[in-house]
Amino acid sequence: MAKQWWKDSVVYQIYPRSFMDSNGDGIGDLKGIISKLDYLQTLGVDVVWLCPVYESPNDDNGYDISNYQSIMKDFGTLADWEELLKGLHDRGMKLIMDLVVNHSSDEHAWFVESRKSKDNEYRDYYIWRPGQDGHAPNDWGSFFSGSAWQYDEQTEEYFLHLFSKKQPDLNWENPKLRQEVYDMMKWWLDKGIDGFRMDVINLISKVPELPSVVEGNHDSYHFGGDYFMNGPRVHEYLQEMNREVLSKYDIMTVGEAIGVTPEEAALYVGEERNELNMVFHFELMDVDSGEHGKWDVKPWKLSDIKRIIKKWQLELQDKGWNSLYLNNHDQPRMLSRFGNDTVYHKESAKMLATLLHTLQGTPYIYQGEEIGMTNVKFASIEEYKDIETLNMYQEQLAAGKDVDSIMNSIYVKGRDNGRTPMQWSSDRHAGFTKGMPWISVNPNYEQINVEQALQDPESIFHYYKKLIELRKVHNVTGYSNYRALMEDNDRIFAYIRSNNEEQLLVILNFTGEPASFVLDEDIRYQRNTLLISNYDAAESEDIRHIELRPYEARVYKLLKKQ
Ligand code: NOJ
Repeated sequence: MAKQWWKDSVVYQIYPRSFMDSNGDGIGDLKGIISKLDYLQTLGVDVVWLCPVYESPNDDNGYDISNYQSIMKDFGTLADWEELLKGLHDRGMKLIMDLVVNHSSDEHAWFVESRKSKDNEYRDYYIWRPGQDGHAPNDWGSFFSGSAWQYDEQTEEYFLHLFSKKQPDLNWENPKLRQEVYDMMKWWLDKGIDGFRMDVINLISKVPELPSVVEGNHDSYHFGGDYFMNGPRVHEYLQEMNREVLSKYDIMTVGEAIGVTPEEAALYVGEERNELNMVFHFELMDVDSGEHGKWDVKPWKLSDIKRIIKKWQLELQDKGWNSLYLNNHDQPRMLSRFGNDTVYHKESAKMLATLLHTLQGTPYIYQGEEIGMTNVKFASIEEYKDIETLNMYQEQLAAGKDVDSIMNSIYVKGRDNGRTPMQWSSDRHAGFTKGMPWISVNPNYEQINVEQALQDPESIFHYYKKLIELRKVHNVTGYSNYRALMEDNDRIFAYIRSNNEEQLLVILNFTGEPASFVLDEDIRYQRNTLLISNYDAAESEDIRHIELRPYEARVYKLLKKQ
């Protein structure tokens, strides 16, 4: 596959509200991020993805944008942002911005106009429909509970909002709207940014008739994904965006794509298709969701994780590029979810990191992951801030569910798990703010924090640093083939990555129990070198058979037999 800078990069995701507060108002800000650029450089990441920093009433923490070309006051000014961009570029790092154009805020000037009258020139920037006999236009549910439609008295019509009612969906059928979006993108690109992460970009095209999932149903809401995921014109829109904007710059793009299969993903990222560079898929993130969705928690199985990863590695091989992530601002902490955040805190964090950095694709590290931050358990719902969580809580309470079981699902899946302040030190509020943090700090900050991690040569942080360096030296981590090993084993996840020059053997024990690794007989090599491991291991050990310790991870380079 063609070499590209973004294929050789490791991305670090910043959720600005929770990263670093510089002015004591309890909310992270741009100057706070600027004060930590040397830290990011020490870690060795190449690209920073900044979650939305635009003006916003914060119904969904900045994913409800009221002005795409100005900075949220809580975060600072455009001058601060310019300084951040320069600070990154001066250190050889790049910046990608979040692009949220499936919807805007209802406080965006376009929507303020749009709702005024049916003949307003901005009416068609959003998706308005008359009701049906006093009911919403269809039975779609919102991702954040309740109906996806909101009635507006002024013009006696409903508008569509797949997320909160303060996030009306933009109407991509309207060419004027599309042009405005492209102009806005160019405005940021001309300022020198290096790309975009595109929020729910596979939802921008809806089936125009907006059919109900169950016709004639007015009593319950349904997931209307068939009518808006990978909709009829999405590829046409992205190809247009690529032609008009993306192709004119040397940038990277990654689209968040809910519900895509690898076959569909190839249509977004296929190298000859001129759409996007990568997508974030959700298959792995849904591995512990039951039939009623994410809050219906079921235990994950290693066999599913192995199957999903293998499928994505093989399906996109030679076609397109993967994105690799195990958590972000919408997901629980990976260590609490897939590892062991108590007894094997360090070991399991390093094991998961090894997986993340040895597959085909670009790894995305979410702030705090590199020090092993964990999920949080706040005692009561009052401490939670996330709109999705709060709406779900009310909905389930109204449906008669008991508080304990609702709280349990929040502990396992709630988005605030990933949004507690970054733990910089053992100082008050983890050194995140001098004021009162907007959301409580995880009480484990005295043990888990950056200051401690930097001092400890065996820390998770230093392991990440080493993994990032390895990726730079060994091309094979990115560009190469994937072969699964020990596929039926329910403890070990092992695979080979190989190209013409190199061969990597990755062995991961995914459990807190010992496990026996046996190398397939047909794999021949002359010599092996241990590149990285999370326990001490003797170089001379025979790797045809290894007794792995709990959460042990090893990566070997195998010198091929000629
Ligand atoms: C996905 C974002 O990552 C999430 O935080 C947000 O709530 C929704 N899209 C809506 O913008």
